[in-house]
Amino acid sequence: MSPVRVAVLASGGGSNLQALLDAEAAGALGPARVVRVLSNVPGAGALARAEARGVPAAVMDHRGYPSREAYDAAVRGLLRADAVELVVLAGFLRIVTPTLLDAFPDRVVNVHPSLLPAFPGLHAQAQCLAYGAKLAGCTVHFVDAGTDTGPIIAQAAVAVHDDDTEASLSARILAEEHRLLPAAVRDLALGRLRRDGRRVRRVV
Ligand code: GRF
Repeated sequence: MSPVRVAVLASGGGSNLQALLDAEAAGALGPARVVRVLSNVPGAGALARAEARGVPAAVMDHRGYPSREAYDAAVRGLLRADAVELVVLAGFLRIVTPTLLDAFPDRVVNVHPSLLPAFPGLHAQAQCLAYGAKLAGCTVHFVDAGTDTGPIIAQAAVAVHDDDTEASLSARILAEEHRLLPAAVRDLALGRLRRDGRRVRRVV
């Protein structure tokens, strides 16, 4: 099977990027190959993680662009130049517009630290604690123009403990993200996902 070229977009520390790189190194990412890392945040930890593995890493600071569309057009240009086929948002803290999405139909996925549709947007773990929910978790989903609203590919649940803080709950969820995201990227690269409206099925 020919390689599937993947770009990972990240704003932060990049532990999900690391999980993808580790899965690839272990042969657990199917034909997916991370060929590009892009961050909107200069100095983001994800950039150093990419460089440590020899993956090209770029910074495109969104503050240098007049609109979301202008930014997304620039990102689209970079990803096309890299012949990217699959885009993974791994802690990429920006809303992505159709300017980018339409160039990669059903090929942009995101990992979010809640059981969507509960607690979309920022600080999902804090939202979950404040609500008093007893189950938390994470979701990998296709990205559409909304905030964490796209069709769900995979989810994993974790318990909320009575003594949880935002940090302790986030760490428990993150461990599941690190398992779920590489598995979803592998399935997508292998062509094992079928979407019918909002419903995504795994076919083998
Ligand atoms: C993850 O919890 C992800 O779901 C959220 O931001 C966090 C990023 O963590 N969107 P990392 O940068 O991958 O370590």
